[in-house]
Amino acid sequence: MNQRFFVTATGTGIGKSFITAALVRQAKGMWRSVSAFKPVVTGFDPETPDDSDTGLLLRSLEQDSTPENIDRMSPWRFKAALAPAMAALQELREVDFEALVVHSRGAMLAPDELILIEGVGGVMVPLDETHTVLDWIERVEAPVLLVTGSYLGTISHTLTAMAVLQQRHIPIHAIIINESEESPVSLQDTRDELSRWTRLPIIPVTRRKSGEDWQDVKELRSLLA
Ligand SMILES: Nc1ncnc2c1ncn2[C@@H]1O[C@H](COP(=O)(O)OP(=O)(O)OP(=O)(O)O)[C@@H](O)[C@H]1O
Ligand SMILES: [Mg+2]
Repeated sequence: MNQRFFVTATGTGIGKSFITAALVRQAKGMWRSVSAFKPVVTGFDPETPDDSDTGLLLRSLEQDSTPENIDRMSPWRFKAALAPAMAALQELREVDFEALVVHSRGAMLAPDELILIEGVGGVMVPLDETHTVLDWIERVEAPVLLVTGSYLGTISHTLTAMAVLQQRHIPIHAIIINESEESPVSLQDTRDELSRWTRLPIIPVTRRKSGEDWQDVKELRSLLA
């Protein structure tokens, strides 16, 4: 069964790349053909590509960070660690939204069984002067994996993200609660509270010792069943 997902989150640093890399690894472990893209990346230093989301996703795919692979994974790269619209402005560039849509829709047409696109920041981060990530997701027409945390405030952020996605009739395939570093309540309690507000599938992922521990996140396997 072919699966396509757009991986978005309630905000930046919540764990989209960790979860995307982990899903790639689980899919590979199940002998599925898989590809992943991070079309727009900010905070990208060309001197140290391996430190970026682009580098992490290439590693998960077991691909080297050659200029060609970096270009294919992340055509829009910006140095400043800011929202894309602001990072682009600093370089007197802009994200060509229509070209981004064409690229992402094309990426989703590849024959691989699993194709993942990691968004950038949260659901409504500005890409240019008139479009946010939400507009991008809508045009890609792939179901969403919504990555959220267990931090204080997560329930409101999650319900807000769900509401704007649902307002545009964008299907949410599942919510992944990626345990935050600082959590006032347990992962289970966050799950239980969230499940009172939605019938969508919720997958809790426990925090690992290190951000490099994405190789063995078996919790995500149910998504690939
Ligand atoms: N489950 C986890 N266990 C351990 N470390 C994690 C986990 N999830 C995320 N991290 C670490 O937390 C940090 C932020 O995660 P990540 O880069 O995946 O977030 P993101 O949503 O992709 O951020 P961005 O908006 O910059 O793309 C990273 O250093 C990552 O390695
Ligand atoms: Mg990321």
